[in-house]
Amino acid sequence: MTETKTFEIADNIYRFSTAVSGVGPEPFTFNQFLIMADAPMLFHLGHRGMQASIAAAVERIVPLARLRYLGFGHVEADECGGLNAWLAAAPHAEVVHGQTACMVSLNDLADRAPRPLADGEVIDLGGKRLRWMDTPHVPHGWEAGLFYEETGATLFCGDLLTHGGDGPPLTESDIAGPAIAMEDVFHAMSMAPNTGAVLQRLAELEPTTLALMHGSSFRGDGASALRALAAHCAAV
Ligand SMILES: [Fe+2]
Ligand SMILES: [Fe+2]
Repeated sequence: MTETKTFEIADNIYRFSTAVSGVGPEPFTFNQFLIMADAPMLFHLGHRGMQASIAAAVERIVPLARLRYLGFGHVEADECGGLNAWLAAAPHAEVVHGQTACMVSLNDLADRAPRPLADGEVIDLGGKRLRWMDTPHVPHGWEAGLFYEETGATLFCGDLLTHGGDGPPLTESDIAGPAIAMEDVFHAMSMAPNTGAVLQRLAELEPTTLALMHGSSFRGDGASALRALAAHCAAV
């Protein structure tokens, strides 16, 4: 595991990236994002074993006591293994997630009660506005969901468009091709009856920045990248 690197991928949106070897033939990154605003949010909490390294990087941008919200996409170790370590380190932070995750898992797993969000509900961070989108089974997990930052058109994609390598923090090059190649190997996505419709709904947001948990973030025509992934899902 390398040290956690920090890069501002969009105005007041910071990416923390830790590359790990041994996952596949090339390094594989685990990324978290800090949305800086009056009430800052961390999206992706990372593995429990990486929490100290991530927290040290976050603290160089904002004191942990100022963190107001903790978010992630679905219940897996890389999304939320550090959940209770974050709740302990950030005493004013509240976990926010969709109603399904709260009901099924987080009311039990989290040391402080989470705040459930309805599909489409917006949290005003003061300078940034995050809209929660239920995305059941996309990329995987009944409880899955994502955030879209409305003021800067950034979609926090979670595992969508996952690709390998320790590439640049932000790219304008094609990411759909490498992501589809990796999906063909890992088969990480659930191919549910609603998969295409969910990806289409995300594409209709027309995001100009895609913030990915695994791989480089992307600046450009985010809708086209999501539609390319949808076309691949429809074909398998
Ligand atoms: Fe996942
Ligand atoms: Fe992931």
